[in-house]
Amino acid sequence: MTIATAAAATFAAPTEEVAAVADWRPFVTRHHLVAASRTGDDVLVRWSDGRESPYDALWLRDNCPCTVCVNPVTREQVFEITAVPEDLAPARLEVTPERLIVRWADGHVSPFEAGFLRVHAYDDVSRAERRRVKRPWRAERLAAIPTFAYTEVTGSDRGLLAWLAALAAEGLTKMVGVPTEPGTVGRVANLVSFMRETNFGIIFDVMTKPEADSNAYTSLQLPFHTDLPTRELQPGVQFLHCLVNDASGGESQFVDGFAVAEALRDEDPALFEILSTTPVEFRNKARRSDYRCRAPVIGLDTEGAVSEVRVANFLRAPVDLAPAAMRPFYRAYRRFSQLTTDPRFLVETRLDAGEMWTFDNRRVLHARAEFDPTSGHRHFQGCYLDRDELSSRIRVLEREVGAA
Ligand code: OGA
Ligand code: ZN
Ligand code: ZN
Repeated sequence: MTIATAAAATFAAPTEEVAAVADWRPFVTRHHLVAASRTGDDVLVRWSDGRESPYDALWLRDNCPCTVCVNPVTREQVFEITAVPEDLAPARLEVTPERLIVRWADGHVSPFEAGFLRVHAYDDVSRAERRRVKRPWRAERLAAIPTFAYTEVTGSDRGLLAWLAALAAEGLTKMVGVPTEPGTVGRVANLVSFMRETNFGIIFDVMTKPEADSNAYTSLQLPFHTDLPTRELQPGVQFLHCLVNDASGGESQFVDGFAVAEALRDEDPALFEILSTTPVEFRNKARRSDYRCRAPVIGLDTEGAVSEVRVANFLRAPVDLAPAAMRPFYRAYRRFSQLTTDPRFLVETRLDAGEMWTFDNRRVLHARAEFDPTSGHRHFQGCYLDRDELSSRIRVLEREVGAA
């Protein structure tokens, strides 16, 4: 067993510099390496805060950042783990507070930054720390919908990041002081990324239209829904910008779909199970398009956490299930629908000209109260992005200005 300890006499300073390819993301060393030792297939690292993190030898070899294993230009890996035998072992470990150098039995040398190892540590504590739990919100949220001024968001990267971080965490934000020229919604979305084009266009106009191809383009009440549940990937972020709102009615309503799903899980796990496993078909048919997607109303990630909701009663196809499953499905679907209108969850407020909603369309359900088109004009513009674009933009801004 090779033991290397920064404090002890066995401490070995690196005998030569080994070139490594830096990640695009800078790794800040907040915790220093204290020791590293071999235990079975693992290298066990001890940190300055007492944490201990095992790294499988194959994991370490797989993540070697040297200029042979990683293409220095693209910074992408060229090494493949099948290029070494499964029993490849470290011959020697060298530890300094900032670096772990692994010298392998076959002569290869892997230099790891402490910051990289810490960020990717997969001991139980580190993994639990990384799992960002979204805090679902309820009606009391209304008073505190995160609100940002257009000038703040467009004025600096820090202002932009503050808005995007709130959007990622809470799933719903409001922007005020937004110019009311048509197309502004696209310019704001472009602060994040390119937009997601759909059959409704890159920027869609929400107003009453004579040959409406969606209930959204009428003055009807729109029940709680996500947009485009008819697509394999529902747009992750939706913008709705109010240009004119002189009609009476038409209030915006929101519920956190994750909160509703969790309430159903608490109340009746069997109904939750049905809605998270039974595929439901959503259809959007028009003269020149016919989109269909079959997926559960409640989407779960691999660890069982709610990762999306897919809801639009006006786009749902006739349910296609085995006869014995039909009534249980309706019980679950009805209960979920009832919960979406439960005042415990409801946030309702009117959007005025120059204001804009931005929300996580796969998390937050939105609805619109009926409005009276004879009482005045109402015109919103909207557009979409995928969640990936939001996450990527946040990470790049964090590289530049630090975490929000
Ligand atoms: C939509 C929609 C809300 C509104 O167009 O999908 O939900 O307030 N519109 O008009
Ligand atoms: Zn290497
Ligand atoms: Zn909508």
